[in-house]
Amino acid sequence: MIAQSLTLPNGVVLKNRIVKSAMSEALADANSNPTSDQIGLFERWSTGGAGLLITGNTPVDRDHLEHAGNFVLDDLSDMARVKDLARAAKSGGAKVLAQLAHAGRQTPAALNPHPISISDQPLDLEGYGVPVPAGEADFADIIEKFTRSALLAQDAGFDGVEIHAAHGYLLSSALSGRINTRQDGWGGALENRARLVLDVVRAVRKAAAPGFIVAVKLNSSDFQKGGFDHHDSVRVAVMLEGAGVDFIEVSGGTFETPTAYQHRAKSASTVAREGYFLDYATAMKASLSIPLMVTGGFRSAGVMNAAIAENKTDLIGIGRPFIMDPAFPSKLIRGEIAEVPAVERDFPPAEDLPRGAVLNWFCAQLAHLGQRGQPDMSLSVLEGHQRYLESIALATRRLQAVRR
Ligand SMILES: Cc1cc2nc3c(=O)[nH]c(=O)nc-3n(C[C@H](O)[C@H](O)[C@H](O)COP(=O)(O)O)c2cc1C
Repeated sequence: MIAQSLTLPNGVVLKNRIVKSAMSEALADANSNPTSDQIGLFERWSTGGAGLLITGNTPVDRDHLEHAGNFVLDDLSDMARVKDLARAAKSGGAKVLAQLAHAGRQTPAALNPHPISISDQPLDLEGYGVPVPAGEADFADIIEKFTRSALLAQDAGFDGVEIHAAHGYLLSSALSGRINTRQDGWGGALENRARLVLDVVRAVRKAAAPGFIVAVKLNSSDFQKGGFDHHDSVRVAVMLEGAGVDFIEVSGGTFETPTAYQHRAKSASTVAREGYFLDYATAMKASLSIPLMVTGGFRSAGVMNAAIAENKTDLIGIGRPFIMDPAFPSKLIRGEIAEVPAVERDFPPAEDLPRGAVLNWFCAQLAHLGQRGQPDMSLSVLEGHQRYLESIALATRRLQAVRR
């Protein structure tokens, strides 16, 4: 099943069902342009055999970065480098999407102490500023920025964009009745909370060529009391289909509830389980005619093939194994391996480690893969965590210096 091609609603054909999900590379230069390390990384991933590659979080607005080090798509972008990145990502026959994002209240305070958000509710974590609720002009500006970035991606040779409406960033927070406390036409009923992402999708769909892929990454749930839940998610997915998206990627959680990249669950039964959001996706799949991509936890060919055969998903989104072995898709499809690397399962439980340590270890490995062509397996989880924190602190200082 994973080897089969898939034709998207707009006619674009993906050569197989394996998708590299978005992973922040943090390899951009001080001007937030792609570097040769980053371009080389995408060439490696493309020749590794995946049907589709999605870039890491690509901000549409320099004032609202997820963190320093991601390449930005705006009028200041070095388009020659962005074109090189797209060309490299397609060199092995994969299609490529830029993941467009606005970090909203999840913008680090060191980069913006007063980020635009859907409300004034701050993030319940250290290191984030005091959000400013968006006004009408801000909404128009945000929609315009997503559209501009999509058109830049199209000009650069990307096959499409994935609009990031998951993991607590601006469009995701707007969907949450817990964070979106507005009383105007952008808050309240789910239709109003979904307005921002729907307006962005419609604007991008209208401006881009018909063959340009427009996808959305959506949470199956925020896993927060009173927040965006599974019931809301299915309804928003149906609205997105109506707005013309080519597929929906299902994930879950936010910075406050990091369920997207679990590494070791407390009970043995959940450890054994793959496809974190597959059960949620089943109900969504039944309500949609466009393809679905489920991401998180897939490690064995058997589970991936069964998920497609049982019509629970059309595309298999995979993240961390692409850092450990960029060439695993070809091996999996040829039957040379039945399992992809699952090194995260060997780490201690999250509660025994500093917050974010395992994720940061993977971030450090991603940088190492870009810089040296392979991960550094001698690195302990704490060393990787520390190395990543230092590299982000350096990238932040460089960015601040450029701004001054
Ligand atoms: C280092 C790293 C960076 C990530 N960056 C992003 C990102 O920029 N955008 C996004 O939507 N998800 C991001 N994710 C989440 C992945 O796309 C994926 O949902 C998650 O890793 C679960 O899939 P996996 O179990 O196959 O790794 C990131 C994950 C990792 C490990």
